[in-house]
Amino acid sequence: MVRAGVADGPPHPFDDPISLYLDSPDREWAWLRGVWNGRAQVHDGNWRLYFVVVVDGEPVGMQDVFGTDFDTFGTVGTFSWLGPAARGKGFGREMREAILHLAFEGLGAREAASAAFSDNLASNRVSESLGYTPNGTEWATRLLEPAPIDRWRLTRARWSAHRRSDITLAGVEACLPVLGIPSPAGP
Ligand SMILES: CC(C)(COP(=O)(O)OP(=O)(O)OC[C@H]1O[C@@H](n2cnc3c(N)ncnc32)[C@H](O)[C@@H]1OP(=O)(O)O)[C@@H](O)C(=O)NCCC(=O)NCCS
Repeated sequence: MVRAGVADGPPHPFDDPISLYLDSPDREWAWLRGVWNGRAQVHDGNWRLYFVVVVDGEPVGMQDVFGTDFDTFGTVGTFSWLGPAARGKGFGREMREAILHLAFEGLGAREAASAAFSDNLASNRVSESLGYTPNGTEWATRLLEPAPIDRWRLTRARWSAHRRSDITLAGVEACLPVLGIPSPAGP
């Protein structure tokens, strides 16, 4: 997937710096180093979990969830990409719903945040359609050019109103201690 390339033409979706804009093979190596680096820095309350998106047995993209001082704020962020051929088929919404289910139901999040360049219609539409509310704007650069970003937030109450009943979580409780999250059953 990453070797084949994950970014296509403008409007570019990722802010700087990101490995996904590099040429192959630097792209693959930088991306792998980023994933390994994130996995090696899992501490209480601060972590990033990387999930592969698989459709009919084929990897088509990734969906991350990360917590920053999660033990204090209970807020997660998400990051996603699909290969160009997999976009616009409803998978983006599906994978965000899946990761939100893990965050709220599995990890006990209180809130989820999202952000995308204002011209990233697909990402912003996923957030809007899942009940996120606008949370201001900011600026970032992409390929060194400044562009506005739309920020979004989804409270637990609003997620509950949109949550799906057909998503199953497996093995989450065993992972809670390494993330610094108290087990619902207590110590
Ligand atoms: C963002 C991304 C994950 C969304 O996934 P997707 O599978 O393409 O989106 P979906 O097919 O689930 O569509 C979600 C919504 O956006 C709309 N949409 C999708 N592509 C669109 C486009 N190019 N223009 C306008 N609307 C679009 C869909 O109609 C749908 O709206 P609806 O709920 O009203 O029907 C995917 O497009 C992607 O990987 N893009 C490149 C990387 C990226 O932008 N990552 C996020 C960085 S913040």
